[in-house]
Amino acid sequence: IRLFVPRDSAALALGADDTAAALAAEAQRRGVDIELVRNGSRGLFWLEPLAEVQTARGRVAYGPVEADDVAELFDALIQGAEHPLGHGLTEEIPYLKNQERLTFARVGITDPLSLADYQAHEGFAGLKRALSMDSAAIVQEVLDSGLRGRGGAAFPTGIKWRTVAQAEAAQKYVVCNADEGDSGTYSDRMVMEDDPFMLIEGMTIAGIAVGATQGYIYVRSEYPHSFDVLNQAIRLAEDAGFLGENILASGKRFQLEVRKAAGAYVCGEETAMLESIEGKRGVVRAKPPLPALSGLFGQPTVINNVISLASVPVILARGAAFYANYGMGRSKGTLPFQLAGNLKYGGLVEKAFGLTLRELLQNFGGGSASGRPIRAVQVGGPLGAYLPESQFDTPLDYEAFAALGAVVGHGGIVAFDDTVDMAEQARYAMEFCAIESCGKCTPCRIGSTRGVEVIQRIQKDEKRPQQIGLLRDLCDTMLHGSLCAMGGMTPYPVLSALNHFPEDFGGAGE
Ligand code: NAI
Ligand code: SF4
Repeated sequence: IRLFVPRDSAALALGADDTAAALAAEAQRRGVDIELVRNGSRGLFWLEPLAEVQTARGRVAYGPVEADDVAELFDALIQGAEHPLGHGLTEEIPYLKNQERLTFARVGITDPLSLADYQAHEGFAGLKRALSMDSAAIVQEVLDSGLRGRGGAAFPTGIKWRTVAQAEAAQKYVVCNADEGDSGTYSDRMVMEDDPFMLIEGMTIAGIAVGATQGYIYVRSEYPHSFDVLNQAIRLAEDAGFLGENILASGKRFQLEVRKAAGAYVCGEETAMLESIEGKRGVVRAKPPLPALSGLFGQPTVINNVISLASVPVILARGAAFYANYGMGRSKGTLPFQLAGNLKYGGLVEKAFGLTLRELLQNFGGGSASGRPIRAVQVGGPLGAYLPESQFDTPLDYEAFAALGAVVGHGGIVAFDDTVDMAEQARYAMEFCAIESCGKCTPCRIGSTRGVEVIQRIQKDEKRPQQIGLLRDLCDTMLHGSLCAMGGMTPYPVLSALNHFPEDFGGAGE
């Protein structure tokens, strides 16, 4: 009997290790022979720890299963029978069934560290195809897929790769930005913990495409499980010939190393990250030169987010047209949205671009966890705008969000009910910037601290109209005068709060 209990850190935080141990002990006590697979998470976090059993009909899900539930549940579980904790066939759970999982196709299904499982589910098909193509054709395939940077900036991945491929240099690098710092986001973490070979495969394809032989994965220091799983996966891939010298006897070479990040939000900014990998303090570099031309150790460097690189294997395996067929407008393919905050059903939802925010919040998120109306949703991390209810019908599309002065970003969705104080949220955005600023430029370093003070005065109703004018001026300076997105985007949450929720600032609309 094959049972599954996730090893993903979200499941572990909810007690998955205890559940797994209880299942093993119960099976032994009863003399039942079980194989316990520690799979990745399906991303339905309100059901974690989710236990599954393999049946002839498919996998059947039970959750949340705590260690204390195991003795009573065991009989039903091993037969895939009905039970109050049961949810029927996992793949038929609407939350999962209604997704379009391309990048997350294997996540939660396979054992993250089983090369056999990976290959049985299309793993390395993209790499094998890439090895049969010349590098310009690989770059063209990524270009034609329409893939854009999933870290948040949405720059076309194929154009970035082409810039690096065409640069002349003895040494080039591929750096994976896995310093996932946005509030409410975890898709990078899930890829690293739950399907690490996919990231390794995507980076190897990138290396072959641009002529880089060395890659680094810069992993958020708060992600110890990702760090361990990646290191184990790299060793396994090397030993099996998918990575390292002479990949699959092609004569191509690509080495990979994991680096633990410095624990600062700004180290997720690409040039600060390069400084950090080089062993220096994570301070932002002025651009140009672009990292694509002068990046790590001054060499041409592809820097992509985890999800961008993890999207590459399926693009190569199925072809650019397959991927580009999903999505809307210039937002092609899918994005793994991450539902968090005050929602009933938090979790990972991979969908093609084009569904509306309301569909995500209602059909997947199930509305607020508190049962009160959802008043504001912050999309795209702590530097993303707050959207009011009147904007919930906006399709999730890079351009549609930009037109509202908002961002889709890395796909983090954090919901707030009507008890939220939006002036306090605006103050918090400025405070976050003040704490995380690298200090290199004045609008961000000084502006954010002054911003906190100005909002505090507004909150205390000290010369409110003047202070609101001052806040708008300050945001204007930060928007246009900051060196990087840290200071440059902090006005997004602040101004959206002020413009859409003026009543929280004492009635100070546009
Ligand atoms: P950016 O727009 O300056 O650059 C985007 C990327 O395109 C960079 O890698 C840049 O080097 C590259 N690029 C630009 N022009 C190019 C050209 N002509 N040829 C080749 N490459 C070129 O944006 P930036 O500052 O890199 O990122 C800002 C974004 O990061 C924000 O939109 C935000 O959503 C996101 N972000 C994500 C976080 C996360 O945890 N995932 C945290 C904080 C911010
Ligand atoms: Fe540093 Fe802030 Fe300037 Fe970015 S905007 S370079 S984080 S001081």
